[in-house]
Amino acid sequence: MSTILTHMSFKFLKSNQIKLYKRENSKYWQMKIKLPKQQAVRSSTGFKTLKDAEQIAIKNYSFLKKKNNIVIRRNPNNIYKKIHLVESADLNKKDIEFILDEAKKFISFNKKKIKKNNLLEGRTVFNLFFEDSTRTRTSFEVAAKRLSADLINVAVKDSSINKGETLLDTMTTINSMNPDVLVIRHPEEGISKRISESVDACVINAGDGSHEHPTQALLDALTIKNKFKKFTKLQIAICGDILHSRVARSNIIILSKLGAKINVIAPKEWLPKNINTLPVTVYTDMKEGLNNCNVVMMLRIQKERINKKIMPNQKKYFTKYGLDYKKLEYANKNAFVMHPGPMNRGVEIDSKLADDVTRSLIQEQVAMGVAIRMACLEILIKNKDDALKY
Ligand code: NCD
Repeated sequence: MSTILTHMSFKFLKSNQIKLYKRENSKYWQMKIKLPKQQAVRSSTGFKTLKDAEQIAIKNYSFLKKKNNIVIRRNPNNIYKKIHLVESADLNKKDIEFILDEAKKFISFNKKKIKKNNLLEGRTVFNLFFEDSTRTRTSFEVAAKRLSADLINVAVKDSSINKGETLLDTMTTINSMNPDVLVIRHPEEGISKRISESVDACVINAGDGSHEHPTQALLDALTIKNKFKKFTKLQIAICGDILHSRVARSNIIILSKLGAKINVIAPKEWLPKNINTLPVTVYTDMKEGLNNCNVVMMLRIQKERINKKIMPNQKKYFTKYGLDYKKLEYANKNAFVMHPGPMNRGVEIDSKLADDVTRSLIQEQVAMGVAIRMACLEILIKNKDDALKY
């Protein structure tokens, strides 16, 4: 349908979403394309005849429409069926692949100008952070809000409710407000699992002490998958404070389930006692451990979990275990560098290397974090809805 107005100096197409018009002094037709909720795009069609101008405008319109029309639908058949995500043991290979696939649609969605979808409208997500966090807390907040959920941030550090049983009481109180998801970060190992056993809401472990941080490992896996497609031929080094790192533990489990080979590289005192029970090869030397690796994942030294007396000298640590361009040469030619953040620049990783977008995936990890968390919220809430049907 089109409306032709006076002197043919302008014409509307596609329910007024395309306007073709001629400026007084120009021989060429101009076009303005305005899609709902999008900014108008204006440019010259480069054509003098209306027929040609119409064709080019419709072509542009279709292109823009397709680009902006990323429809986000709930997957009707979740492969991952649980309503909590508290440890990597919850996930088998198929579950992990499913979550990574579900996150894919959110990667393109998150690049749109208007990043709002009503998938979780009317749902309530609590961010319960009992330990410092900016990145993970914000990432969950962005994820929930982009899906239109209401998000309540509860940041309680060093308070009386921070401890064991009182904490469970607090959770029971919050549970009575009928939340849909509780995202929990806490210094105590296993606390998310305990909470998940006593509340109705879905529980996501956003880090429990040195134990696990499953959504971090999932976002790391997605970042790696985007670069290499398959995990089976990959050798991945995880380096640094393995002993205190929940990121290392979750990554070892998840990446090895996907088929990658894992080398851990750490000073002897930062290797967990049970390291030989994990699917990894252990090194204490960077040169040996990085050999043949496609990805080098550095870890933050978990100062808050380490007795000051046994903290290594930072300079010495960097010389032996800090990743710089020179040590990166021990790995494969085009190996990529990762770090979950926050980074101690010049201690765990050379600052320039961390910012080198040709080698470092650190910013990409942050972007994938939002996509993974959107997928996890969506999947868990759907599973809970399904469970309530019966
Ligand atoms: C990690 C964490 O908190 O476990 N960071 C994060 O989730 N952004 C890694 C770390 O703090 O070392």
